Amino acid sequence: MEHADKLTRFSVSMESGLARRFDEMVKTKGGVNRSQAITQLVKTALIEHYAAEESYEIAGSITLIYDHHQRQIQETLTSIQHDSGDLIISAMHVHLDHHNCMEILAVRGPVGAVKQMSDQLIATHGVKHGRLNVTTTGKEFTK
Ligand code: NI
Repeated sequence: MEHADKLTRFSVSMESGLARRFDEMVKTKGGVNRSQAITQLVKTALIEHYAAEESYEIAGSITLIYDHHQRQIQETLTSIQHDSGDLIISAMHVHLDHHNCMEILAVRGPVGAVKQMSDQLIATHGVKHGRLNVTTTGKEFTK
């Protein structure tokens, strides 16, 4: 096991215009340096790579926007959630206006099962927009 605080330095070659544009972007992200920005990109790429395996354990959130007047929508969304076992660890419902609701589900579990549930929720008739945000449970990264 490598020491958690050990840092590796390496140099990267890339086209100058790309490096310049990357540095410009990093500058807009208040207080983040190039190494921190690249570290975040590497983590995102690793999570995406690991998540190609259906059994990979993720944490994440599903956001759903829908009109609660749409016939049967609440019943359908609730029944999908009840059938999803332990995947949903918390749920928040916000009444955005007279028609529109936002539901935010905190999820944890195998990415394959989470995606399947998320696809089912988002495909429900009357859901205006939905999105699954996949992130790490934190176990792979020391910081
Ligand atoms: Ni509502």
